[in-house]
Amino acid sequence: MNFENILVDLKENVAIIMINRPTKLNALNKKTIHELHNAFSSLELDKEVKVIIITGSGEKAFVAGADISEFANFNVEEGTELARKGQELLFDFVQNLKTPVIAAVNGFALGGGLELAMAAHFRVASSNAKMGLPEVSLGVIPGYGGTQRLSQLVGKGKAMELIMTAGMISAEDAKDWGLVNYVVDLKELIPLCEKLASKIKRNSSVAIAAAIKAINANYATDINGFEVEIEQFGISFGTNDFKEGTTAFLEKRKPNFE
Ligand code: COA
Repeated sequence: MNFENILVDLKENVAIIMINRPTKLNALNKKTIHELHNAFSSLELDKEVKVIIITGSGEKAFVAGADISEFANFNVEEGTELARKGQELLFDFVQNLKTPVIAAVNGFALGGGLELAMAAHFRVASSNAKMGLPEVSLGVIPGYGGTQRLSQLVGKGKAMELIMTAGMISAEDAKDWGLVNYVVDLKELIPLCEKLASKIKRNSSVAIAAAIKAINANYATDINGFEVEIEQFGISFGTNDFKEGTTAFLEKRKPNFE
């Protein structure tokens, strides 16, 4: 895969996508969003890929937001389209990916950067990371799912405060808030994500995809998550991974999932 603004590396069934616009603090312009969409969709189809880690290049930023220079002159229709297209191509797309996505937050995760991290299935941060949704300081609101996902992850009151103040929180505060699962030194960030990925990749990818679908259903208003869980639970019984997982347990051996 050849891209201009991202790097993709695959090793031992774990893909690392690195957003690579360090001079712009990895800000998400239109091209980067399209490249990320293409990378995520082809990695999802690649049976070799069991886990995807998304991070930013350099030691300063994960992603410092949507590229402000690209939308500064937009009108109402263009603004609406920017949010709609971005959510469809990247943020909702990542949230609903069948392959688990871990965000390795290696510095500033602001605006669209935090929104991308929140769209990932879970987050790990380096101790220098700083997170916030500063859009109201620009006269706009988060448009890539930030008002929804931040409230879901940290609760309404904290989301209101962070968005209204346009402030930034430290990695440690983000951990206390439940926004990130772990905080480690920057040099330990990717190794920890790889360690978590190695635990995930031992398990059934088919079952993990079903679990992602069921967990995400909790946050959809038009469907009943419990019903989705029942349906996905039932479907599992028809998979080869279920036969292998249960047989391996009864035969006291490790499962060998397809
Ligand atoms: N969009 C476009 N360019 C951005 C950007 C963004 N969201 N964030 C940073 N950059 C660019 C800067 O314009 C600068 O480019 P230049 O060198 O060509 O002028 C470069 O990245 C470095 O940023 P700079 O502001 O000089 O770094 P800093 O260390 O002084 O400050 C931040 C870092 C993150 C505090 C600051 O860049 C910032 O506030 N960025 C915008 C954050 C934001 O509002 N995001 C939400 C967007 S909706």
